[in-house]
Amino acid sequence: MATWHALAVRLPRPLVDPVGKALLALGATGLMEDVPPGTVVKYKQPWDKGRRPRPPSEVLLRAWFTEPPAEEAVRAATGGRAATWEETPDEDWNEGWKAHFQPVHVSDRLIIAAPWHHIEGAVVIEPGNAFGTGEHRTTRSCLAAIDRLATPGERCLDVGSGSGILALAAARLGMVAYGIDTDPDAVTAAEAAASLNGLPATFDTTPIANVTGTWPLVVANLYAEVIAALGPHLRRLATRHLVFAGILSDRAHLVEAAMEGLELESRDDGEGWTSFVYRVA
Ligand SMILES: C[S@@+](CC[C@H](N)C(=O)[O-])C[C@H]1O[C@@H](n2cnc3c(N)ncnc32)[C@H](O)[C@@H]1O
Repeated sequence: MATWHALAVRLPRPLVDPVGKALLALGATGLMEDVPPGTVVKYKQPWDKGRRPRPPSEVLLRAWFTEPPAEEAVRAATGGRAATWEETPDEDWNEGWKAHFQPVHVSDRLIIAAPWHHIEGAVVIEPGNAFGTGEHRTTRSCLAAIDRLATPGERCLDVGSGSGILALAAARLGMVAYGIDTDPDAVTAAEAAASLNGLPATFDTTPIANVTGTWPLVVANLYAEVIAALGPHLRRLATRHLVFAGILSDRAHLVEAAMEGLELESRDDGEGWTSFVYRVA
């Protein structure tokens, strides 16, 4: 198996372009900009007002070579900056990516797996098509609640269905599920997953304001701000339980305010995330 020689050099941001070009001229087959160790990156969240925070002033530039160039040539290309080398075997990237996904055992009766895990009875989700493989804490907390609250024959509404994972989990436990998502690509992925699993779940992009009927179990893995904004509709549609996740803990009060008057059945906090289960009746 071939070996890649990976060079890493820390640079002021304006030098990334000229140094990158010089490394390509030396035979680099690929470049990647990374965050230097110890650098704190600030992101603009959907609810943040004002300008996007500035990117870090320094960049860790990586360059891959099949043959490492002469030391002096690298020194000239990088302006004499300290560079480190690493050797990485040329692995099968597809297999490496697949190995990253492990089946999620919610309980003995509810397992989420990728197609290549070949687990009988599992809800099969193709990773990469839409948010929701079961890896994220917020999805896992919803799955645990669904496992506890699902009642066969009843209806479950999944608001922000992404890959369809929550609706499909409810359907696997005997519920009839319906998922809505504002992203048409997510709906396409969820419909494909429903047909792959042969489960009674439908998905579309109907805005929640236009959803009619009642649903004993309503789940929503959405930001606190979105749950709060959709609060009156979520309350209107649910008749037994409301399950919420995706809430950054420092914003949990927004959901609590929107759900005031409902009985809080359980709350789970961890890794900066909060989830709630409310009893409606
Ligand atoms: C965090 S993902 C959750 C996916 C999946 N339900 C899970 O638990 O892993 C949130 C999803 O909600 C969708 N979304 C965001 N705002 C929405 C809204 N107002 N109504 C419906 N879907 C929404 C996004 O497109 C995204 O697919």
